[in-house]
Amino acid sequence: MFDVNKIRNDFPMFKSHPNLIYFDNGATTFKPQVMIDAVNDFYTSGTANVHRGDYELSLHADYLYDETRKLTAKFIHAEENEIAFTHNDTASLNQIVYGLAKSHLKKGDVILTSQVEHASNLLPWYRLDKELGIVVEYIPVDKQGRILLDEFKKMMRKEVKVVSLASVSNVLGSEQPIKEITKIAHENGVIVIVDGAQSVPHSPTDVKDLDVDFLTFSAHKMCGPGGVGIIYGKREYMASMEPQLLGGGMNARFHSDGTMLLKEGPERFEAGTPNIEGVIGFGATLNYLMDLGMDSIHQYEIGLRKYFKDKMKEIDSIILYNEDNPTGPITFNVKDVFAQDAAGYLANKNIAVRSGNHCAKILHEIIQTDSTIRASLYFYNTKEEVDRFVETVKEINLESAIGIFF
Ligand code: ALA
Repeated sequence: MFDVNKIRNDFPMFKSHPNLIYFDNGATTFKPQVMIDAVNDFYTSGTANVHRGDYELSLHADYLYDETRKLTAKFIHAEENEIAFTHNDTASLNQIVYGLAKSHLKKGDVILTSQVEHASNLLPWYRLDKELGIVVEYIPVDKQGRILLDEFKKMMRKEVKVVSLASVSNVLGSEQPIKEITKIAHENGVIVIVDGAQSVPHSPTDVKDLDVDFLTFSAHKMCGPGGVGIIYGKREYMASMEPQLLGGGMNARFHSDGTMLLKEGPERFEAGTPNIEGVIGFGATLNYLMDLGMDSIHQYEIGLRKYFKDKMKEIDSIILYNEDNPTGPITFNVKDVFAQDAAGYLANKNIAVRSGNHCAKILHEIIQTDSTIRASLYFYNTKEEVDRFVETVKEINLESAIGIFF
């Protein structure tokens, strides 16, 4: 039984902010006490570097760090040596783009992505466009940001080398048919990269079943600490892809003539001292999420989102941009009110949302507006919060939204 009121007791932020409605979970999430304790324990009684010391404290830190790699692999049905830790999802995507540029891509190659993507899955490709002469093309999507599979199929040709997409859009919640996309891509020898930042925290993920070549995500968007990103990559890439950062811990040997032998494990992508406490905290988070059950989390969120959407649809004064998407945030505007003014009104009523373009700065070409309000839920949000949110949105109009500034 998924008992949301009991679950909320696990999160100190609900105690320190009893009246806050936090609907900005797409940006980052609250943290459970077990995760905070794990980080605190590391600082208070477990501090040491990893993979560099032969004394007990360091060996224990190695153990906890490596355990998290195992847990991460289990969480997404991967192998341990297919998981590398970076500093965030953006760093993970940049590493993959850099690595593929060095070994797999050349001038004239085509990368398929979409106009729905976050900056972190577009700007690294744009740079390759400028520096390497690769060509970025957008797969057509419908008005709610969903990839049109037939159009995607038509775009397949020998110049296409990579398809890089978010599994769920951070603005519209559009859930892409990643398994079908991957099948078509692989039939055409195309590498598949999936930005899972907005899907892995919310539903079960099985990379073996999806068969994607890469998946990235971020710990802080799933109750974990900041500063921990994850790369899943198939073994053939993880053993040989060129790392972006060079330094300690990622090389097996180097010589005074400048030659170097890099490690073939995921440490290859973890140059320098990693975010040890973050990774260890993430281990505690993964155990916490697995105890709750990702399937239960997913079912609960789908139900809550439907409840939310149905209530929002009853408000005449709003425009909803993604009512057909069963997952992800509720994204809307109040008619005639600038999104940031409406968000300011909500903030004044102790409600946290994000407004603006949400780093998806070419999405306006699809939804015809630059700025929206995004209310993003997580499994600890409740129907009571949704009710209060909806009642508050009903109060927003041009006058009330501007009124908060005077
Ligand atoms: N990428 C995060 C968001 O969508 C920060 O808000």
